[in-house]
Amino acid sequence: MNIERFENEDALAAALATRLIEAISRNPRIVLGLPTGRTPVALYREIRSRSQRGHVDWSQVRTFNLDEFVGLGAGDSGSYRSYMQAELFNHVRMTPEHIGLLDGRAPNLAAECARYECAIEQAGGIDLQILGIGANGHIGFNEPGESLQAETHVAELRAETRRSNAGLFGGDSNRVPSHALSMGMATILHAREIVLMATGEEKQAAVAGMVDGPITTRLPASFLQLYPRVTAMLDRGAAQRLADRAFGVSADAGQAPG
Ligand code: F6R
Repeated sequence: MNIERFENEDALAAALATRLIEAISRNPRIVLGLPTGRTPVALYREIRSRSQRGHVDWSQVRTFNLDEFVGLGAGDSGSYRSYMQAELFNHVRMTPEHIGLLDGRAPNLAAECARYECAIEQAGGIDLQILGIGANGHIGFNEPGESLQAETHVAELRAETRRSNAGLFGGDSNRVPSHALSMGMATILHAREIVLMATGEEKQAAVAGMVDGPITTRLPASFLQLYPRVTAMLDRGAAQRLADRAFGVSADAGQAPG
């Protein structure tokens, strides 16, 4: 796993924004997989501001978001659809039909999951998948457990995941839906390239398990060890337990040793 360490979340967001924008200019028809949550807020802010300065052509880019709460959709402030509109889609000139989102209000959730898998396949698969990581090691909403699901599915959210999403629901974790639709592990691992971002000390144990721990369904991100083209972009807090590792890029780069 290629690991890059940054001084703080702003430096990480700036580096990843550069990487994404370069990927778009190399391949204007790129298919992106996108996360929500607190971690990518700085990334989307950076992308918005660079796109508003007119340097990025979004017209042919396609996106697929990782997940959505069951029961929520357009107009629900807690939905990931609303989050994506506020953070990115309302600010860049994408073709509306190119935006792939799961519909948490679909009458038939199994059919919605199957539709999503088909849509990703028809788009030619995901070129670059951006991920966050839960403090419990989840990616997308593939939660730790006895087993993992390969394809897009209905996931039951763990209590800690509902707590960490409470901010979207006025701080009340009881209002966080108990279930979500999520890309599966194979949906994610079939991407041509993966970049996982993690910030803050509360992610340090999950990050250490992902990088150095055993590959286990108890820490879904550990499956990324099997994947050949993954970069973990970390801030100092998230990288804290990896002190002895060599970093591909480091916040220390250029500083004198000691
Ligand atoms: C959200 C997603 C989740 C988050 C994870 C971390 O689309 O896929 O796996 O990346 O829960 O969330 P934050 O960034 O809020 O700590």
